[in-house]
Amino acid sequence: MSYEAHFRVWRGDAEGGELRDYQVEVNDGEVVLDIIHRLQATQAGDLAVRWNCKAGKCGSCSAEVNGRPRLMCMTRMSVFTPEETVTVTPMRTFPVVRDLVTDVSFNYDKARQVPAFVPPKGVAAGEYRMRQVDVERSQEFRKCIECFLCQDTCHVVRDHEENKTSFAGPRFLMRIAELDMHPLDAAAEVGLTRSSSAQEDHGLGYCNITKCCTEVCPEHIKITDNALIPLKERAVDRKYDPLVWLGNKIRRR
Ligand code: SF4
Ligand code: F3S
Ligand code: FES
Repeated sequence: MSYEAHFRVWRGDAEGGELRDYQVEVNDGEVVLDIIHRLQATQAGDLAVRWNCKAGKCGSCSAEVNGRPRLMCMTRMSVFTPEETVTVTPMRTFPVVRDLVTDVSFNYDKARQVPAFVPPKGVAAGEYRMRQVDVERSQEFRKCIECFLCQDTCHVVRDHEENKTSFAGPRFLMRIAELDMHPLDAAAEVGLTRSSSAQEDHGLGYCNITKCCTEVCPEHIKITDNALIPLKERAVDRKYDPLVWLGNKIRRR
């Protein structure tokens, strides 16, 4: 079945913009990105859109469809009725470059601020051994395609530009959790306690576990339950651990 859909697409740049209306052909089996491409090919040759794989794996085509953060290539047109207006806007949390393309460098800055895995001493790379259960735990977090939809949706930064300097966002707090749970990470040997650092340096305390990040993750990673809540528990355990408290007290003398 083919029909003409009513699309409203945000057009503009960093200076400002507006929603523009288009009638575009839709065919069976198509996704929102197909329609955006048809729009580009037939009516709006200069429409800027970032995409790459069209298979939900590169994380490039993130945008907001009817106000919901989504991958355009994984949003089937069949979820809308033919009468429905489909509104496509750029991710709201990041500055617009042009049309549907945003500047996501906030995320790269945050990635750089997370200290890398610290290799254990005396074990050569290639000789690391871990229990399968530990491998599987971090495997879930490793499915991340860096679409930044979770970063876009989290209310801590979505409407609060002022929080951006102190909050790493769910994707990078999850990265800290992954490293903190890694049995071979030797961060402690270089004086780094990842859970405490998440709290003190990366804004873990801003997260009030609303789980909106988990809801929009296209890889269905349980960001809140499996990464953020355990990380919070570890940070609190450490803070109120009487032995740690005593150690800190003695060290301060
Ligand atoms: Fe995207 Fe999920 Fe990774 Fe967040 S955790 S960047 S939503 S894949
Ligand atoms: Fe934000 Fe996710 Fe926490 S949406 S508040 S990081 S649970
Ligand atoms: Fe790669 Fe959509 S184009 S995730």
